[in-house]
Amino acid sequence: MSGFGAVGARLYAWFNRHPETNRAVVDLAELRAGETVLEVGCGPGMALELAAQRTGAEHAAAVDPSETFVAMARKRVPRADVRVAGAEDVPFPDASFAAIYTLASMHHWDDRDAGLLTLAAKLAPGGRLLLAERLLDRPGHGITPAQLGEVSARLADVGQTGVRTVQRRIGRRTLAVIVSERPVTA
Ligand SMILES: C[S@@+](CC[C@H](N)C(=O)[O-])C[C@H]1O[C@@H](n2cnc3c(N)ncnc32)[C@H](O)[C@@H]1O
Repeated sequence: MSGFGAVGARLYAWFNRHPETNRAVVDLAELRAGETVLEVGCGPGMALELAAQRTGAEHAAAVDPSETFVAMARKRVPRADVRVAGAEDVPFPDASFAAIYTLASMHHWDDRDAGLLTLAAKLAPGGRLLLAERLLDRPGHGITPAQLGEVSARLADVGQTGVRTVQRRIGRRTLAVIVSERPVTA
């Protein structure tokens, strides 16, 4: 369940444009031309568009459980492979992506632990995972310091290495990005 119906998705796309935040996450992903990239919970596809400019749209993919958001993202980036799915059931083969990122989506997932296990499996050896959320004092539409600790521990459990949190101040908000890598050898 995405929680975003057709009307909610359209209102979100209209009122939530955060070009600096999108750029910060895509910059941190250090995407290179020809690399495969997946965005999870792409919404209307604004960050996907930036990512696709770096990798080439034919190397970019995205999932979102909202059909309305998927339609918007396909329209924005027609050559990207955008599918209706959640983080817990990503419909791409294991080990297919050099980079996977998600922005303001993880706090919506039905099963965060299952989603993290799935995303780790979809990374190619040496692949990078970036989980970005607004840093909050208390639970809500973002992530608290305690939740950062829970997610970091789960990433270590599913075999990710180099788990660290990078913070970026954007306007009056702080963006927290948990970065980790898939080991090159299992
Ligand atoms: C606040 S919006 C963020 C959208 C976009 N990433 C952005 O920054 O504009 C949250 C997104 O997470 C998606 N979402 C909800 N449940 C999800 C799940 N289980 N797996 C992946 N994405 C999910 C929603 O459909 C929505 O597109």
